[in-house]
Amino acid sequence: MSAICRKAVPDDVEHLFNMIEGYAEQGIMLPRSRKVLEKQLDQFVIAEMAGEMVGCGSLCRLGDDLVEIRSLGISPNHQGHGIGSLLVGALINEAREQQFPKIMALTYAVSFFQKNGFSIVEKEIFPEKVWTDCIFCSKQDCCDEIAVLKILD
Ligand SMILES: CC(C)(COP(=O)(O)OP(=O)(O)OC[C@H]1O[C@@H](n2cnc3c(N)ncnc32)[C@H](O)[C@@H]1OP(=O)(O)O)[C@@H](O)C(=O)NCCC(=O)NCCS
Repeated sequence: MSAICRKAVPDDVEHLFNMIEGYAEQGIMLPRSRKVLEKQLDQFVIAEMAGEMVGCGSLCRLGDDLVEIRSLGISPNHQGHGIGSLLVGALINEAREQQFPKIMALTYAVSFFQKNGFSIVEKEIFPEKVWTDCIFCSKQDCCDEIAVLKILD
């Protein structure tokens, strides 16, 4: 059975919350409240297999020419089967449709993003980022995530 990607709908909020919360507890994702998820639902793409959510990811606009992949996660028992790459592909398509020329992520999963066409870049080239999510992060003064970027053509 293969996975499909689709836009998130209101019924996904609880599953999204649980998936993100699980990774937030491990310190590899920023938490999102149910209220924030409801508000930002149109930014989320869901990976689904046999009617079950097996992954999620979102796109956040950082500027006129830049979007960020956030909250990317695959449920632990479905990792390593290409679903993360499928989701990143869906998010890239979404960014292209919205005419954004650049897509980035802050991540610990560097080789995963490199396999999906991203390159490592200096975080300092993204000033907009400082004013969005980072101000809510406990690691804002000692961020050890790596910035990766893909130019969309
Ligand atoms: C990172 C993640 C999204 C990848 O999704 P996935 O479905 O497991 O990945 P795919 O099957 O599409 O791709 C697998 C490839 O990515 C690499 N990869 C997977 N997880 C990785 C990680 N944490 N770090 C580095 N590389 C990773 C694998 O080595 C594999 O390479 P291979 O094909 O040469 O063996 C998923 O493992 C995950 O949800 N991890 C926990 C949450 C997380 O770290 N999210 C990223 C936040 S930006």
